[in-house]
Amino acid sequence: MEEHSDAFVFFGATGDLAYKEIFPALQVLIQQGHFDIPIIGVAKSGWSLDRLKERARDSLKHHGGVDPESFDKLSVRLQYVDGDYQDASTYELLRRALGATKRPLHYLAIPPSMFATVVSHLAQSTCAKNARVVVEKPFGRDLASAQALDRTLHEYFPESAIFRIDHYLGKEPVQNLLYFRFANSFLEPIWNHEHIQSVQVTMAEEFGVQGRGKFYEEVGAIRDVVQNHLLQVMVLLAMDPPASSDAVCIRDEKIRIMRAMRPLEPSCVVRGQFNGYRREPGVSPDSHVETFAAVCFYINNWRWAGVPFYIRSGKCLPVTATEVFVSLKNPPHSVFGEAVSSQANYFRFRLNPDFVISVGARIKAGGEAMVGEEVELIAHEDAADRMLPYARLLSDAMRGDPTLFNRQDAVEAAWRVIDPVLGNVTPLHEYEPHTWGPAEADAIAANIGGWHNPRPCEKLPTWIPRGF
Ligand code: BG6
Repeated sequence: MEEHSDAFVFFGATGDLAYKEIFPALQVLIQQGHFDIPIIGVAKSGWSLDRLKERARDSLKHHGGVDPESFDKLSVRLQYVDGDYQDASTYELLRRALGATKRPLHYLAIPPSMFATVVSHLAQSTCAKNARVVVEKPFGRDLASAQALDRTLHEYFPESAIFRIDHYLGKEPVQNLLYFRFANSFLEPIWNHEHIQSVQVTMAEEFGVQGRGKFYEEVGAIRDVVQNHLLQVMVLLAMDPPASSDAVCIRDEKIRIMRAMRPLEPSCVVRGQFNGYRREPGVSPDSHVETFAAVCFYINNWRWAGVPFYIRSGKCLPVTATEVFVSLKNPPHSVFGEAVSSQANYFRFRLNPDFVISVGARIKAGGEAMVGEEVELIAHEDAADRMLPYARLLSDAMRGDPTLFNRQDAVEAAWRVIDPVLGNVTPLHEYEPHTWGPAEADAIAANIGGWHNPRPCEKLPTWIPRGF
């Protein structure tokens, strides 16, 4: 039985991730009664503790609502250390704030370029003793830097104390990909190159970089979401059945499929940048960072030979929605002589902002003629993911459970696939905000009948989290 961490430290306390995800997750964890421990925010903003508390309240107001009882508990437990991450005195202040705690968890919600600096200071100041560390994605900038970062982490932390977080793995609809595939028997016989024509994963965001220009300049769409969130979704769609739901079995099957992925070729990648990005605060006026990427992967194994897996993500697109569209091959012979779309039979998994699992089929339209129409059978529909992924993952890390975190071999396998197209080796095309990216992206999906564009979310969540 792993020991529970006895303090929660988060670097990047005044940043965007803390505002959008960490404070709401902390409120849920406090409601669940798991968090009667010191909570220490660290950042370099010149803020006071009161200002951080105000920020926390505002965050909750905009992300789920303030539960007064839990917020009071959060306020009492919250401490703030203001200081430069490069400065040893910051860690002295942190040491003092940790007081008599013995097993802190340090969560690095900061740009990847700062990870190595922060962990070595944590070690020198003894704040890393018996501690766990949670490292945000992207883990490294490419294969070589991911390996170097891993070596740095291992100088101070054993593998059992390192948690490489990817919040997509904590999302309920993403976990359902694994469950739906392997808890039913009807999918597996058709889940291969004989029946599946193509797989598409689209993560569209209507908004831009929302003040995160500086962070975004370090990453770009490929490093920000393709190398991690979207590859993870693809792995869950493509992996073989694990022998059990045990962490080792699942992680072993994942790594097997990742090793079978063909490294990306530049001809399979289209990068775009929305018109206006270069005027965002923190962005270089001649930036070549992509805010849109469309790529086509292949998996070199028996199951998936020849099946294209298309992944697309972009900022300033027409909708906010993440969706998987698995297109089945048409019947081998046209009995009814109709012209049928090449995307009539499909499985659709909506992952964000609502949650849908559905199947596309054709039925006979009423009347004398044997003429059909397309229908969609909804297997499951929910207005939203009911569990905050960060609450689930941080609670797991505090307990020392690594199941939903990435292993280093998987991180490296993902970089191996992506590495050949990093570093501006492909052209950058401008696109207008609120379009589906540059026209060049359409060309790479032309032979499968084009991209499937997710519809906007029609239903707003009607539920409110427990305790609100
Ligand atoms: C983050 C990326 O990891 O995921 C953001 O840094 C992106 O750029 C976000 O907007 C999307 O997450 P979600 O849960 O809103 O789909």
